[in-house]
Amino acid sequence: MRVLVTGGAGYIGSHTVLALHEAGHTPVVLDNLSNSKAASIQRVGELCGREFEFVRGDVRDSNAVRSTLEQYDCAAVIHLAGLKSVAESTTDPDAYFDNNVTGSIGVLRAMRQAGVKRFIFSSSATVYASRDTPCAESDQVAPSNPYGATKLAVEVLLQSLSQAQGFWHITSLRYFNPVGAHQSGRIGEDPSGEPANLVPYLTQVLTGRRRALRIFGTDYPTPDGTGLRDYIHVMDLAEGHVAALNAPEAPAFSVYNLGTGKATSVLEMIAAFEAATGKRIPLEHLPRRPGDIPFSCALVEKACNDLGWKARRSLKEMCEDAWRWQQANPLGYD
Ligand code: NAD
Ligand code: UFG
Repeated sequence: MRVLVTGGAGYIGSHTVLALHEAGHTPVVLDNLSNSKAASIQRVGELCGREFEFVRGDVRDSNAVRSTLEQYDCAAVIHLAGLKSVAESTTDPDAYFDNNVTGSIGVLRAMRQAGVKRFIFSSSATVYASRDTPCAESDQVAPSNPYGATKLAVEVLLQSLSQAQGFWHITSLRYFNPVGAHQSGRIGEDPSGEPANLVPYLTQVLTGRRRALRIFGTDYPTPDGTGLRDYIHVMDLAEGHVAALNAPEAPAFSVYNLGTGKATSVLEMIAAFEAATGKRIPLEHLPRRPGDIPFSCALVEKACNDLGWKARRSLKEMCEDAWRWQQANPLGYD
């Protein structure tokens, strides 16, 4: 199947392009490169022994999306393009609604005009209300920041569209915490500026680019006092998209968690990296980061039952692969 991957030059997108190729699909990438570099797609091409079609364009430009769909005869869209920083979304919410909500509307409008029905959406665990037990897809949603609100707004739109028009086959994938890199070490996460997330910050401490890892809060109501998250290897996540695409009888609208079902604390993640790399990580203890929740973890049975997908890579592989990428590319793609 020819599949348009919006945001395909980004962290999750580049791994998804690789997984699509490995599954026999033909990805076409559309990205405005606002948070990525074309080098990522070139490297995926090197790994796959072929070049991928790349269109530099913005998803808010519905005409550009439509002409790309028509030019490459795409039968499905995996829509990853968007902004993803929780902190930035609190200071610049209009940019987040514009990119994430208006952008999704642009893609959906182009799809309807081009007659493309299959839509897979990058949603997030941040849509859930904070809770101390793992989340099922039917659990309460109540995003606590504008970024999460944009993801929920798109999900509401998708559900409404699927009810109003008997045209769509839509899957929304709620990612938990993607980490790691392809095991080749050729593609990986390349955040611009200071990394906001735990693992890229930690690997930059390991290379000496950052002085110490700051632990945001040691007084959470968790066994060791630090935040618990459901970290998932980015290649497992990428393969989750392929499973969603291949699902034989997709309903008009469905939602799936993509996680492992296991929660890991910040201290456990640090210990796993120290074991995987044989290096000590200098630490600094800071107060809680505003907006953080103590616990986030997925219930994963629905994706396993319906899509035949489950995450299979271990925490050790997440650490080893993230480190291989960072060590070989200390300045990312630069
Ligand atoms: P990323 O920033 O690496 O990738 C997003 C890509 O979209 C980038 O290449 C960027 O240049 C592109 N983009 C942004 N706005 C665009 C626009 N208007 N038009 C065209 N391209 C545009 O981020 P990622 O981590 O790969 O995330 C991909 C998707 O997954 C995002 O929608 C994000 O919200 C979602 N998500 C990410 C995480 C995470 O922790 N990384 C968790 C849950 C959901
Ligand atoms: N943390 C630190 N130090 C750091 C960075 C993070 O101690 O330098 C802690 C946080 O306090 C939290 C845990 O590590 O307890 C994970 O934090 P991340 O920033 O890596 O991830 P979040 O769970 O806060 O959020 C991420 C993405 C969101 C996405 C969410 C769920 O940033 O966009 O996962 O998928 F929605």
